[in-house]
Amino acid sequence: MNLKDLYINFFISKGHKQIPSAPVVPENDPSVLFNTAGMQPLVPYLMGAHHPYGKRLCDYQKCVRTNDLDSVGDTTHHTFFEMLGNWSLGDYFKDESISWSFEFLTEVLNIPKNKLAVTVFKGNDKIPMDEVSYNKWLSLGIPKERIVLTEEDNFWIAGEMGPCGPDTEIFYYRSDKEVPTVFDESDENWVEIWNNVFMEFVKNPDGSISELPNKNVDTGMGVERTTAILEGVNDNYASSIWKDIIELISELSGLPYEGNEKSMRIIADHLRTAVFISADYAGIKPSNTDQGYILRRLIRRAIRHAKKLNIDINSDFESLIAKKILDQYQDYYQELKDNYEVVLEVLRNEKIKFNRTLEKGLKEFNKITSKKEDIDAITAFHLYDTYGFPIELTVEMASELGLKVDEKGFEEKFREHQELSRSASAGKFKGGLAGNGEIETRYHTATHLLNAALKEVVSKDVHQKGSNITAESLLINIQI
Ligand code: ALA
Repeated sequence: MNLKDLYINFFISKGHKQIPSAPVVPENDPSVLFNTAGMQPLVPYLMGAHHPYGKRLCDYQKCVRTNDLDSVGDTTHHTFFEMLGNWSLGDYFKDESISWSFEFLTEVLNIPKNKLAVTVFKGNDKIPMDEVSYNKWLSLGIPKERIVLTEEDNFWIAGEMGPCGPDTEIFYYRSDKEVPTVFDESDENWVEIWNNVFMEFVKNPDGSISELPNKNVDTGMGVERTTAILEGVNDNYASSIWKDIIELISELSGLPYEGNEKSMRIIADHLRTAVFISADYAGIKPSNTDQGYILRRLIRRAIRHAKKLNIDINSDFESLIAKKILDQYQDYYQELKDNYEVVLEVLRNEKIKFNRTLEKGLKEFNKITSKKEDIDAITAFHLYDTYGFPIELTVEMASELGLKVDEKGFEEKFREHQELSRSASAGKFKGGLAGNGEIETRYHTATHLLNAALKEVVSKDVHQKGSNITAESLLINIQI
């Protein structure tokens, strides 16, 4: 049985109901492009709303995180991943949560206790140290040398505001070497595999923290990382999740994985994410805004790397890879079955579109870079606008030649262009954990500055009573 099934069965045996994975494109939250964590679709219930499935829930959630899209190519980064989660909505709390995590790891996955270490919330001037979790780990036989107390790393929130709380993180020692007695977080052989968040607080828009009506549990375990660990491989892309996909890419290119890892990982990762985005019932198509632009960037970057590996772009290589991915996941996600042909068509059409300008664009790029000079914003924008080169493609190709690109300048031009076509703010393209667009985040910071200024200029007794921040405006209510 694979990890997902083991996990769900285990939590069902502990009285949980399995809830279906929410779509990758959030249904009721326009402030983020994609779901980035298992808890995101559950925010209203963590805030106190009644969930129709009850108080104990578990699932595997499709997540898309594009904030470190550029890091894909190494052994650990992915733009799409599945997150296993179990939740208590005002039901069990720290004791059961930690016991069950420990039981699942040591008795279902058979991980030796000696390979585990944990971190626990150290406390600060507002919230005391999490002694319950600390003592619970001790009672389960985790020695104190393997329990690290931190403040910053052990308080979890998705972005700027919303439900949050102290957490305890579980680490696994990835190497065959003897496990060190003392847990040192900076030793990269210790990898985090599970995060148990005890959500009893909410961070309000004004930065203050209040108690939630319920004490909740929110946990998250990454399928890709944990699978790699259980299979004893140090490269996530060498695990059974990726094996067939990488093998197919190797076959199509006639090249071995060794020595071509970066491009093969990018093709595998980006096409997998593109499959899930285009299969979503939201009906996303490649475009120059919001989710559509992420989809376009992923497909185009994958195509460019396929070209680098001398894969024949005019063949149906993208369909063959996509079919492998669809077949691997379709028993878990109905939309992959329903939209099987749609996905293939989206990929094919985008490839044809990009192909029309790719050759000319590459020639132009070579001409531009023959001077061995950094690329300015106007040139980068020209490559985007005329040849369909997303900025990171230009940046990546330039960096392969040791050249830089004026990305900031490009972003400005891009934004002007977006505003002209009255599309969404460029800040939203970042996606990721923040949960807010760049503009909203800036406005949020601006409320702090405004408050400080009012205190100084008007009166020390100015107090903020509330705020309303959108991409268009910033309103604050004050009282003197
Ligand atoms: N929501 C927590 C996380 O994403 C569990 O790490």
